[in-house]
Amino acid sequence: MVNINTTTGHQNVAMLGIGAYRPKRVVTNAEVCEVLDSTPEWIEERTGIKSRRWFSEDETLRSIAATAGARALKNSGVAPEKIDAVILCTSSWLTFVPNGAPSVAYDIGINGVPAFDLTAGCGGFGYGLAVASGMIRGGTAEHVLLIGAETMTVGINPKDRGTAMIFGDGAGAVVLGPSEVNGVSPAVWGSDGENASAIRQNFDFLNYQFVAADYQHKDPETDPMPRMSMIMEGPRVFRWAAITLPRALSEAIENSGVAKEDIEVFIPHQANARINELMKQNLGLPEDLPMANDIETTGNTSAASIPLAMEEMLRTGKAKGGQVALLLGFGAGLSYSGQVVTLPPAPAPEED
Ligand code: COA
Repeated sequence: MVNINTTTGHQNVAMLGIGAYRPKRVVTNAEVCEVLDSTPEWIEERTGIKSRRWFSEDETLRSIAATAGARALKNSGVAPEKIDAVILCTSSWLTFVPNGAPSVAYDIGINGVPAFDLTAGCGGFGYGLAVASGMIRGGTAEHVLLIGAETMTVGINPKDRGTAMIFGDGAGAVVLGPSEVNGVSPAVWGSDGENASAIRQNFDFLNYQFVAADYQHKDPETDPMPRMSMIMEGPRVFRWAAITLPRALSEAIENSGVAKEDIEVFIPHQANARINELMKQNLGLPEDLPMANDIETTGNTSAASIPLAMEEMLRTGKAKGGQVALLLGFGAGLSYSGQVVTLPPAPAPEED
């Protein structure tokens, strides 16, 4: 039997820098309610969202992902030629071919390295963190640029009460690389295909037609364009989250070897401020422990939400580089990923 070469990497991995891009257009609850049958108060009370960013004009998924990635690179101090792989976590890159990461990498000035998209819904960034740190530990890459970027509003029906007020657009990124002490715990990650249909799209690409039950083109007078959109059975996701996520969080802390008392920051996916408050309480984290609440002005940006929330906390001083943070991503799939990390240094101020 031949013995084929293997690789060995660096066991200790950390996030070395962070960057973000928030689209220019701010959309308030009042603006959403110009089309949606809801009220600004209902939206704020049930989701915690006051406003969100929607992409417009010269912004695209490709451009916002590249800007966030370039900022993370600059803030990490790692030279572009040292990046060995680029991972783009997204559910809103609109072509199957070509995929997004190679073009985004090229725009940042990184060409020739492995670059691929990773789709795991709102759990995408956590999955990316597990894959990127695994690559560095296994020796297939030394530095990885990990980007979470979404233009969720391309697939949102502005009249759908289950999604229209929730989702927003944006991009966040981190550079991962070897570190003196380890800053990324093993992931506690998983999926539940039995509940896959709880978050779905309404277009059947195989038969090239809308799924009749989810077809929302109901009023040709006022809404003449049928559009592919996302359907979310919110209460069903809420119930799944209540059972699955507390276990994932406890296991993530246990597997990290860090005591619960040593967790300094909680950065859950920004899906719903009420879910996050409940998780914090149920986990027994101190009431005054800083918790991300970027959803208030950013909405739910799916795979971009964790790096965006992390960047916001570091930029505003709510959290500091080197602090121990508990992360949890969850959403379509249904999928989830929890990790304990040390935070990267605060980003340099940016002009958007
Ligand atoms: N505006 C005003 N009223 C609305 C509304 C809206 N957008 N959506 C629903 N309602 C009404 C319903 O008609 C219902 O009225 P009723 O009590 O008279 O029947 C009431 O509000 C409650 O509806 P429900 O669907 O149970 O709302 P909710 O409190 O569960 O909130 C979500 C809806 C989507 C905000 C919430 O379920 C959620 O955030 N779920 C989890 C999402 C998530 O984690 N996703 C994973 C990551 S993407």
